[in-house]
Amino acid sequence: MADSSGLCRKCILRLTPYVPGKPIEEVKRELGIEDVIKLASNENPLGPSPAALEAMRQALLNVAQYPEGSCYELRHALARHLDVGPEMLIFGAGADEIIHYIGVALLEEGDEVVQAHPSFVQYCTAATLMDCPARLVPLKNWTHDLEAMLAAVNEKTKLFFISNPNNPTGTIVGANEVEAVLDKLPERCVMVLDEAYYEYVDDLGYTRSIEWAKAGRNVIALRTFSKAYGLAGLRIGYGVGPRHLIELLERVRLPFNVNSVAQAGALASLSDPEQVRRTRELNRRAKEYFYAELDKMGLPYTPTQANFVWIDVQRDCKEVFDGLLRRGVIVRTGDIFGAPTHIRVTTGTDEQNERFISALREVLAK
Ligand SMILES: Cc1ncc(COP(=O)(O)O)c(C=O)c1O
Repeated sequence: MADSSGLCRKCILRLTPYVPGKPIEEVKRELGIEDVIKLASNENPLGPSPAALEAMRQALLNVAQYPEGSCYELRHALARHLDVGPEMLIFGAGADEIIHYIGVALLEEGDEVVQAHPSFVQYCTAATLMDCPARLVPLKNWTHDLEAMLAAVNEKTKLFFISNPNNPTGTIVGANEVEAVLDKLPERCVMVLDEAYYEYVDDLGYTRSIEWAKAGRNVIALRTFSKAYGLAGLRIGYGVGPRHLIELLERVRLPFNVNSVAQAGALASLSDPEQVRRTRELNRRAKEYFYAELDKMGLPYTPTQANFVWIDVQRDCKEVFDGLLRRGVIVRTGDIFGAPTHIRVTTGTDEQNERFISALREVLAK
């Protein structure tokens, strides 16, 4: 292949394409197993609300037309839902796209990013894309070490990311601790509170991100329809921030970045709180079951506030991953997060959870 490295900005060569959780069809093909379950990408096993499915069916009839670029109806419904002004919202093809826009719009040469490690990989990607270094601050007890993160802030820091709950560990930091950091950040620094798993947290008062945004502070909260709302395949998420920040992100947003089916599905989802309630209930049950079974196996795990559990399998995670895969269960290995004896397992249906636990028992017994 011809050497194309001279054709791009140098920092692009430091980027590698995102490696997603292994798809079910790929495992079926490679291992010849018919019955495969995926507990690797923190998806919602209950899927979307019936109201969302019906709205999406209707929206399909109009796909010959471009979507409404501003997500008008969804914007106004969500603004009412969150009690914020419609101009405080930006929509993207997943929260991922908003992270990308935050990097593109706010970072420039000489800026730095502060984030925890391990945490969600897309923050680093956004920094690298803009040729800005990311200072990675190790977690303490698998939780954001806000004091150490604050100590890593300097006059160059432009973005301060908190994944809350944190992916891959499921831990949270509380509103008072976060506010204490926010009070100390330099004026030119923006705090990004990634709340992709917000709806799963036991006490939803754990964050005041929307209040801070309403007060005009330099905060952008990220939420998504991919997780609790069960719409990961549609790609729709949003950011909430003060007008002065959202206005900057809107400058780099692609014209029709959120498709019309996604807009319709998200809008209908908001009118069905029962679906989120069922999702929370299933997740609560799954967590209890996982904890009880892992305790019996003597495996350490991190209590989670999200829909996945971070488990120390106390041996090479890749071996455990392979063993589970051969039994038709896909999980995520910790090595990609720098934790070679950990796996991250999404909570599934009751049946899927039992299948995972019995497969894990078999693998560990070997
Ligand atoms: C912490 C965190 N933020 C953002 C995202 C991206 O979500 P979306 O599907 O909305 O792009 C994920 C997805 O796994 C995540 O774990």
